[in-house]
Amino acid sequence: MSDSVNIVFLAAGKGTRLKVDIAKPLIELLGAPLVDYVIDGIEEFEEKENLQTKYGFVVGYKKDEVESFVRQRLPQDKIEFAHQVEQLGTGHALKTYFDSNPSGYEQEYTLVVCADTPLIREDVYEKLYSDLKKSKADAVCASFHTDNPFGYGRIVKNSGLGFKIVEEKDATEVERKITEVNSGLYIFKTSHIKEHINNLNDNNKSGEFYLTDLFKEDQNVKTYCFDSESDFLGVNNLVQLEQAERIIKNRINESHMLAGVRIKNSETVLIEKTAKIDAGVVIHPNVSIFGNSSLETGTILENGVILKDSKIGSHNLIKANSYLEGCIVGDNTALGPMARLREGSVIGDKCKLGNFVETKKVHLEKGVKVSHLSYVGDAEVGENTNIGCGFITCNYDGANKHKTIIGKNSFIGSDCQMIAPISIGNESYIGSGSTINQDVPDGAFAIARQRQVTKEDMAKKFIKKKS
Ligand code: UD1
Ligand code: MG
Repeated sequence: MSDSVNIVFLAAGKGTRLKVDIAKPLIELLGAPLVDYVIDGIEEFEEKENLQTKYGFVVGYKKDEVESFVRQRLPQDKIEFAHQVEQLGTGHALKTYFDSNPSGYEQEYTLVVCADTPLIREDVYEKLYSDLKKSKADAVCASFHTDNPFGYGRIVKNSGLGFKIVEEKDATEVERKITEVNSGLYIFKTSHIKEHINNLNDNNKSGEFYLTDLFKEDQNVKTYCFDSESDFLGVNNLVQLEQAERIIKNRINESHMLAGVRIKNSETVLIEKTAKIDAGVVIHPNVSIFGNSSLETGTILENGVILKDSKIGSHNLIKANSYLEGCIVGDNTALGPMARLREGSVIGDKCKLGNFVETKKVHLEKGVKVSHLSYVGDAEVGENTNIGCGFITCNYDGANKHKTIIGKNSFIGSDCQMIAPISIGNESYIGSGSTINQDVPDGAFAIARQRQVTKEDMAKKFIKKKS
């Protein structure tokens, strides 16, 4: 039978050192809240070990926001919340969980994780769990060695079977020199918690109830010392947030590369957790991919492309420094360099949008070309229509937006403006430099500009001579 385990997330703290007005578990990190990464690791662990788990969240600061994220992230029937009204310490937080969910004592084991350690991966939980079972200890604390133990609880092993944890503030000179420290991750036999949790006290320099006092030298408790210090990085300030972000960024990039995405100079490439990228996509340096973006095979993103919440098909070439936001692109299309596709742009297959083209809320059918320096907004353009340079849809009258509809196989000369609402038919031809304010039917030619006047020999009248 599979083991039953409580997984208690300590997430009530205010995160004062971050100096931002967001609940720490929800601070954004590469497109997902911090705690989402912690949950990922836990989920992988329980799946591998086939555990029967219950999640406990100790919440306090901005609790409603934290709860609402957790509720949509995890199965409802597995989550229990405990409200720690006053943050009286990590031991008090764990006690708050069991006080409000006494049925938690029925689970055989309890894993305690902090909501601010996003880098711990499934293998760490697995090692800790199997060590507890193998060693038959009552509790195992994950520790590591560090050259800079400042701020961490020190692991003190003097006598007896077990050890104790002494916090920075309470440590003696000699204890402060200890380099083995407490990571803040622990696994317990739940019976050990039940026996000792009510005996914790706040007789220490911080006046807090320390969870770490569940480890004593005369108890059957042990440490499991891990090699990789960086996995346990806690996010307590914006410097640590940036450090964690770099590590996660590299992990995301590496996982894409191992899955067949070619990333050049990956150090400079930022891909959020939420992006989906097929094997065979090529990403050049300085590209950023945000939100729910997806890319299909054979698509190339040249240097400096920025993609936000955009769905990009296969075999597209998105040239340097293009900026795409909330749009859909078909297959075999070329965009940019420096194209800007705004919210609601739907671009078909085999289209070509050149440099400095801006689109917004458009539907361009297959094979449409908008070569350069044009603005196409609130428009529909039919198959294979060619739009010349310097074209503008005049879609806004100061109060409302209006639509431009252009049929298929039409040719719009350079430097035309369409004063919307307006409709241009199929197979029509608009002469260059036209300002069109009346509908043009299928097959028609329209031109709207002043006739040219040429006066021979008159130029000298206007050309100024430099004195
Ligand atoms: C804690 C450990 C320390 C360890 C370090 C590792 C204690 C007493 N000390 O210190 O030995 O080296 O983690 O990072 O446990 N929280 C609550 N309610 C509270 C207090 C804290 O939910 O009343 C939560 C916080 O939101 C956070 C976690 O518990 O997620 C840890 O609290 P934090 O204040 O960061 O503890 P540290 O000082 O880092
Ligand atoms: Mg901490």
